[in-house]
Amino acid sequence: MSTRTLIRGGLVITAADETHADVLIEDGRIAAIAAHGSSVAQGWTADRVLDATDRYVIPGGVDAHTHMELPFGGTFASDTFETGTRAAAWGGTTTIVDFAVQPRGQALRAGLDAWFAKADGRCAIDYGFHMILSDVNEGSLKEMDRLVEEGITSFKLFMAYPGVFYSDDGQILRAMQRSADNGGLIMMHAENGIAIDVLVEQALARGQSDPRYHGEVRKALLEAEATHRAIQLARVAGAPLYVVHVSAEEALAEIATARDKGLPVFGETCPQYLFLSTDNLAEPGFEGAKYVCSTPLRPKEHQAALWRGLRTNDLQVVSTDHCPFCFTGQKELGRGDFSKIPNGLPGVENRMDLLHQAVVDGHISRRRWIEIACATPARMFGLYPQKGTIAPGADADVVIYDPHAEQTVSAETHHMNVDYSAYEGKRLTGQVESVLSRGETVIDRRTYTGRAGHGCYVPRATCQYLG
Ligand code: URP
Ligand code: ZN
Ligand code: ZN
Ligand code: ZN
Repeated sequence: MSTRTLIRGGLVITAADETHADVLIEDGRIAAIAAHGSSVAQGWTADRVLDATDRYVIPGGVDAHTHMELPFGGTFASDTFETGTRAAAWGGTTTIVDFAVQPRGQALRAGLDAWFAKADGRCAIDYGFHMILSDVNEGSLKEMDRLVEEGITSFKLFMAYPGVFYSDDGQILRAMQRSADNGGLIMMHAENGIAIDVLVEQALARGQSDPRYHGEVRKALLEAEATHRAIQLARVAGAPLYVVHVSAEEALAEIATARDKGLPVFGETCPQYLFLSTDNLAEPGFEGAKYVCSTPLRPKEHQAALWRGLRTNDLQVVSTDHCPFCFTGQKELGRGDFSKIPNGLPGVENRMDLLHQAVVDGHISRRRWIEIACATPARMFGLYPQKGTIAPGADADVVIYDPHAEQTVSAETHHMNVDYSAYEGKRLTGQVESVLSRGETVIDRRTYTGRAGHGCYVPRATCQYLG
């Protein structure tokens, strides 16, 4: 039996347009869009009508960088696929792309199977996977081809974390050459991990063990150096490159220089680098551990460069790098040694709202908000136009957003499985009101109505942002 839903009277915002329009949904997809009050829209019948007067009607968010249950530093990221995707839905995100991890010494397939098993039947919203290559060899290079064909079309490599996820330049070059052939997109964690490990050791030997030293040893110059090197290796390989979690102005400058040459180099930043800084890392009483992630938070001055990069399109995507660890029992593993603090911040629930605040604050336009949070991540990772827009034929992943609601971010009220908020006490204008995932209401006027298992795995095409 077909079900028809009509969303009436809202301001429909996509990366391309803002129009007062009515949106008709049929069988989980957008069936039609017509000017609000037009004779076309007036002729529509529906089983249910959602009133969006004075609201925005926007595509569900696409968060292309999450780590549910990631094993890291002897513990696991505290959100499961169940809790993390539910929190994402609360925050207006309807698709995540999470990172399956190749276990060292094993096949990509082993890691992928493990991630499918963790996610299957548990997700509230749709999900896809990238693959982390932690052991580039003949076998894993061959496997990359098969994964691309199966819809895992992007591969993260690490220039950081020697002995854990690290790949050397030869391995990186080989993976890039392979992706140049098979259409995969290389995602780079660009920090010079070998040099950083020397600085970590020296800092600890001097007795500098507090969280703030995490930010001091992971120098902006070492992010810039690795970014530059990754770009040159990608040029040699003839491969496009996507640099994840860019935080340093100097690294962004390397990306901008490459783009000015016309190279297919792309950059992602995250809300934590736009809204938080080394001031947070320096909070007393080990509170700074809550803000330990890599790349690290930077001095406030870097924020203006990142906002500018988002406006000029030197940065194309804002993802969360959601990788939560509880303060109690997890972040605390690094008391007395900052290098043992598990790296990562929670944020999958906060991204759409924080970026709306950036609209309110004048950093970006409304359409740019949708572009960097929905449309471009969908294009970059082969999900468009199924995801990332409101257009006939697209999945009916739709958020009804109240741009005037006032909220205060707090761990008391958030839905992520983590005992603190990185944005505790921050006042925001705007809030998600209702969320539809493939036409099913998962958030109904601030009540959760979704279910674990509604979310489907989405195989992805190759990058659609290249030309
Ligand atoms: O600190 C972070 N970013 N943790 C997650 C792993 C990564 O490097 O993205
Ligand atoms: Zn109207
Ligand atoms: Zn990373
Ligand atoms: Zn990450």
